[in-house]
Amino acid sequence: MNPDTKPVHKLVHAARRDSTVPRTVDASAQVSAGHSFWVQLPRPFFALAPMEDVTDAAFRALIARYASSDVPRVFYTEFTSADGLVFADEHGQARLRAKLAFMPAERPIVAQLFTAHPERMEQAAARVAELGFDGVDINMGCPDRTVEKQGSGASLMKNPVLARELIRAARQGAPHLPVSVKTRIGYSKDSEMEHWLGELLAEKPAALAVHLRTRAEMSDVPAHWEWMSRAVAVRDTVSPETRIMGNGDVRDLSDARQKASETGADGIMLGRAVFGNPWLFSDRAQLPTQEERIAALIEHIKLFQEKLSGLVSEAVMKRHFKAYIHGWHGAAELRARLMETEGLDAALVILSEMQE
Ligand SMILES: Cc1cc2nc3c(=O)[nH]c(=O)nc-3n(C[C@H](O)[C@H](O)[C@H](O)COP(=O)(O)O)c2cc1C
Repeated sequence: MNPDTKPVHKLVHAARRDSTVPRTVDASAQVSAGHSFWVQLPRPFFALAPMEDVTDAAFRALIARYASSDVPRVFYTEFTSADGLVFADEHGQARLRAKLAFMPAERPIVAQLFTAHPERMEQAAARVAELGFDGVDINMGCPDRTVEKQGSGASLMKNPVLARELIRAARQGAPHLPVSVKTRIGYSKDSEMEHWLGELLAEKPAALAVHLRTRAEMSDVPAHWEWMSRAVAVRDTVSPETRIMGNGDVRDLSDARQKASETGADGIMLGRAVFGNPWLFSDRAQLPTQEERIAALIEHIKLFQEKLSGLVSEAVMKRHFKAYIHGWHGAAELRARLMETEGLDAALVILSEMQE
């Protein structure tokens, strides 16, 4: 039976009966999920997904500028190597600090870390606390081969013992911060979901974001939203205080609200929908005009220059050029000109001409 067609109370009972769902809660789980910003967020809330070289300090600052204050939301940083935070030389540390910089308007903001070493997670989580973040998130879903080879990211789905140790280590390093996890529904089969999420939830994380695809599916198939109410049922059974978010293919806030109400998720995480759309958390009804798109891209480039030039390759901005500049006669030509520029100053000259 399609899991979505079962009433939620039956799913909860099914999850309770399911012997693969762990019920033991580690006694060392000191931080109750109740002591965190997560429980203050009105539901449904919305999360800006971590996206490497996309939701960087510049783009996040812009999205926060355009966000409406009455839209409850939380921002995630791009993922950061905990090993890097612990071992980087002075130059590396400076680069990581710049990448982890954030504006007060972005709060609440969570730093996402990855590693396969609990002791490094502990130290990195302590650094995250020193840097003033509101939470620590652990990546347990990244399919990148270099990340997986280290035993981190998605490969943790094959090692729940280590995954649980990492949660405890983060808590140890940042005892006053809520610890959350972002993961997928399984490594190669969605039938792994109940057991895997149950393992994580037994550690009582403050929040859990579930990208509704398996590692094997990468991003190649539509997200399995039909599994979300099932994930919520596992949460209800194992750790009712944990806030649970669904993630995958959500277009905008109205799509997000509908998915939250259909599935019982506390929050919805949005990723690619923010490309070219820093208005994503603003609840504005009308589509941005050509002038607004160009002005937003100019602002985005200036923020990048201010915060990241010299530390991050300017080439990462090219992906944004494509995302902002479309939807009007002449957009393709403008896009092509921007893609050929060398350096962001040249792109700014072209864009300013368009404003004249
Ligand atoms: C360019 C890019 C970079 C990403 N980087 C991260 C990352 O650093 N950490 C992470 O947990 N997920 C990362 N993801 C996955 C997203 O957070 C999200 O789970 C995925 O894109 C599905 O959500 P969406 O359909 O709303 O985009 C990345 C995705 C993209 C497209």
